[in-house]
Amino acid sequence: MSTFQVTDTIARILKVCPETSRVFEKAGMDYCCGGGVSLEAACKERRLDTAALLTELEACAGIEHASEDVSTLSLAGLADHIESTHHAYLRAELPRLLAMTEKVAMVHGGKESRLLRVHDTFTLLARELSEHLDKEEQILFPMVRQLDGGAEASAFHCGSVANPVAQMEREHDEAESSISELRALTDGYVPPKWACGTYRAMLSGLARFEGDLLIHIYKESTLLFPRAVFREQALSAR
Ligand SMILES: [Fe+2]
Ligand SMILES: [Fe+2]
Repeated sequence: MSTFQVTDTIARILKVCPETSRVFEKAGMDYCCGGGVSLEAACKERRLDTAALLTELEACAGIEHASEDVSTLSLAGLADHIESTHHAYLRAELPRLLAMTEKVAMVHGGKESRLLRVHDTFTLLARELSEHLDKEEQILFPMVRQLDGGAEASAFHCGSVANPVAQMEREHDEAESSISELRALTDGYVPPKWACGTYRAMLSGLARFEGDLLIHIYKESTLLFPRAVFREQALSAR
């Protein structure tokens, strides 16, 4: 498995990686009103090669972790993978992007006031994400690893694993809404003609950050969390 599946809806693929809209446009597919159908069904309708289109979508995603096969990983293995790739990326990248948004806001905020809001929005998002990573690494992921090892649900101080999962899902929704705001404030990360090098680097960094974060959330919300909740239910039913 890669980032996308043939059973994913077009809307889901676009949510994970908005850049894939270019691939759908090229293939003549209606991703606006026809986003609810699966990739497989949409390709069949237009007699397109599903596998070829899937490969193109993966290439478009262009995220270094996108091609990693995580489907065969155990629950603990998936938690380890997310921590060593996406969490490590955020720990390194958040301070760098924060410094860039601050510099660009200071230098160009007088001319383009939206850059002040970019800095404010990113500052809040970076703080919330850092706390979110801490909670996953210190509370939820250790529970996931215990479940993988066969621990009973009653072993957890917070009751069910579904409780921290629900909290993490709320925080994912909040992060996605901040990402949408950053995208809108920067016209989809497209620099104006007068943008300096730092401004351009900030935008390309934010675009990459968005791509990685959406894939990170996808791996947790679609793969890790539902499997952990299912595992706990299966253990409880024994
Ligand atoms: Fe995470
Ligand atoms: Fe998360």
